[in-house]
Amino acid sequence: MTALTHAELIHWLRETDDSRLDTLWRMADETRRTHVGDAVHLRGLIEFSSHCARACAYCGLRAPNSAVVRYRMTSDEIVECAHQAVAFGYGAVVLQSGEDRGFTAAALADIVRRIKDETPLAVTLSVGERDNAELALWRAAGADRYLLRFETSNSALYRAIHPDLPGRPSDRVAQLMRLRALGYEIGSGAMIGIPGQTWDDLARDLFLFAELELDMIGVGPYLPHPDTPLAAITPLHAINPQQVPNSEEMTYKALALARLTRPTANIPATTALATLNKRYGRELGLRRGANVVMPNLTPPRYREQYQIYPDKACLTESAADCHGCMRWRIESIGRTVGVGRGDSPSQLARQTASPDPQKGPLSACP
Ligand code: 5AD
Ligand code: FES
Repeated sequence: MTALTHAELIHWLRETDDSRLDTLWRMADETRRTHVGDAVHLRGLIEFSSHCARACAYCGLRAPNSAVVRYRMTSDEIVECAHQAVAFGYGAVVLQSGEDRGFTAAALADIVRRIKDETPLAVTLSVGERDNAELALWRAAGADRYLLRFETSNSALYRAIHPDLPGRPSDRVAQLMRLRALGYEIGSGAMIGIPGQTWDDLARDLFLFAELELDMIGVGPYLPHPDTPLAAITPLHAINPQQVPNSEEMTYKALALARLTRPTANIPATTALATLNKRYGRELGLRRGANVVMPNLTPPRYREQYQIYPDKACLTESAADCHGCMRWRIESIGRTVGVGRGDSPSQLARQTASPDPQKGPLSACP
């Protein structure tokens, strides 16, 4: 398949004709089947801390939001969730939190080590912008993958919605490159329909997915949270023809095009998408390019406090309910539940081409 040009990407992003969109869904689905198969991999999500030092203009967990009840799970609670993941047959867990400076790097390394010692799980971290020493420590402890969305490739828009910490200019693409050099599988992504995001911006985001050779790509609609500054902005697509809408259909288009631009990536049907269409959002995502779902393992008493955006799907269900629901949804569309870790095909190819970085100087240190 030849790569899509910038003009073709914009054309597809702006397409509204149902029968032509059917062609896009079919191309994405065929590409998904050819490159990553019919198995849908389950990654258990553990939202282990709602503390956050940052002030992203869109995120409900931002530090200035005093309406959030902050929690931090104990090491035992987190490891217990990982055991639950094994019992459900998942191959991986995602440890996610705000940028919680109260959770030391050493404490997180201990948790990663315990999970790696006690289970066969792949461990993914999603804990924000961190320095190299922390990333290296967690990698040496056994962390396999790291998720860090760049949110938008438009640097002016990124800066407008994402204040730096004093003395620490934010550069997520540079961190992704450092993560790759450390031997992590890397995942990134963007929100669809951020106020101020244009068609041109979104097409560039899609190019960046390919350029970064991402192992994992997450795209979800921007969902206004009432306790954030960005929510005060009027839906711009009503007045600006260049504004990308934060709609369900727009998210499917971005997801399908992400599959076409990066055929081997592991791409989830996200919870944000399921939030817009609680009945069929996951299934439609899986039929339009996605091959991963992330059932929530966070104990419900904490989950309710982890409100990045409001009205989140799967908010009150227990881990067992989420698990049963996901399996049912996968099987109802004729797909199979993935077995094993569901590693990135690209990462496996990289590892056979070069020595495993885990066996490099990091883990060789006494
Ligand atoms: N709407 C949709 N997605 C959001 N995220 C954060 N806030 C929102 C929101 N209001 C996404 C960001 C972040 C990920 C963890 O959640 O893309 O990287
Ligand atoms: Fe917590 Fe952005 S508000 S990382």
